[in-house]
Amino acid sequence: MRLPDELQSAIDQIVKKTSSKALAKSREELTQDYREGKVSSFDVEAKRLVYLAARMPATFAAVHKVLQNVPFPIEHLLDLGAGPGTASWAAVDLFPSLKKITLIERSSEAIALGKELARFSPSEVFQNAEWIQRSLPGLIPRADAAILSYVVNEMGNFEMLIKQCWEAVDMLIVIEPGTPKGAGHIRKVRQQLIDLGAYVVAPCPHSLACPSDWCHFSARIERTRLHRQIKGGSLGHEDEKFSYFIAAKKEAPLYSNRIIRHPMKNSGHVRLTLCTQSGKLEEKTITRSDKESYRKARDAEWGDPI
Ligand SMILES: C[S@@+](CC[C@H](N)C(=O)[O-])C[C@H]1O[C@@H](n2cnc3c(N)ncnc32)[C@H](O)[C@@H]1O
Repeated sequence: MRLPDELQSAIDQIVKKTSSKALAKSREELTQDYREGKVSSFDVEAKRLVYLAARMPATFAAVHKVLQNVPFPIEHLLDLGAGPGTASWAAVDLFPSLKKITLIERSSEAIALGKELARFSPSEVFQNAEWIQRSLPGLIPRADAAILSYVVNEMGNFEMLIKQCWEAVDMLIVIEPGTPKGAGHIRKVRQQLIDLGAYVVAPCPHSLACPSDWCHFSARIERTRLHRQIKGGSLGHEDEKFSYFIAAKKEAPLYSNRIIRHPMKNSGHVRLTLCTQSGKLEEKTITRSDKESYRKARDAEWGDPI
C-alpha cells in the first residue's frame, strides 16, 4: 500500500526543509530511543521530521489494515495520543461516514505538525477537526469510536485509560507494535474489555482466553526515495508488524477462523495456522482436492479471516 497522495506530498514538502544527512542521524537516535523504551519525542524538530518520513507511513499502513476490520460506520472518531494524526488519515481514507474528528495529544509540537498536515487533507471534516492538547488519562469526550494507535506502550499503567475510553465510546480500537511486548499489552487490553462486557470484533473469532502468546500481523508499505534515504537499505517496501484489538458495545458477526501466520503456499496444498472459534490454535492443511477451500486458502493472507 501507499500513503494517500495528499499526505505523501505534505510530508515531502515539510521534510525537504531539512538535509537528508541530518534526518538519517536523527533516525538513528530515534531508533535508539525506541530500543531503550523511551517515549516519543516530538520536541526536537529533526526527530519530528524523521517520524513523518519514516514512522508515519508504517503506522498508517498498520492502522489502515486494522480499520478494514471495522464493521460499523463511524461518525465521530476520537484519535487519542494522536501524534501528527496518522490514525485519522487512515480513518478518513476508509470512512466516508465521518462527520467529526477529535484528536487528543499531549505534545504541542505534534499537534502543530498534525494541523499543518491536515490542511492537505481532501476531507473538510479532517481540516476542521478539533485538536485538544492534554495528557491522558482524563475526561474522554463521548464518541462513536476511539483509536489508540501506538500509545498504550507509552503509558505506564493503561488500565484507567482503557476504562475511561470504554465508558465514552461504542467501539474501541487499540493498536500496538507487533513485538512480544506490544502483543502482551493487547492481550491485557483484550481481557480487560471482555471483563467489562465488550463484544469482540477482531481479530479473534471468539471471546475465550487468548491461546496465542504473540498474536501479531503485518502490513506492507511502499518506500519512497526519501524513506529509503533516511532508513537506508534498498528494498522498495517495508513490512510493519503490529498487534491489535477491536471491541464494541454491540455484537458484530464473528468469522470462524483468523489466519495468524504467513500461509505456506506449496504446490497442491496450503498450510494455515488458525485461531479458531473454539478458542484454540490449529494447523490446517488444505489440499487441491478440496476445490472451494483450496481456492480461498490460496488467495488468503496473514491476518485474513477465513
Ligand atoms: C508513537 S506516537 C503515536 C502517534 C500516533 N497515534 C500514530 O499512530 O502515529 C505516541 C503518541 O502518544 C502521545 N502520548 C503518549 N503518552 C500520552 C499521554 N499520556 N497523553 C496524551 N498523549 C500521549 C505521544 O506524545 C505521541 O504523540
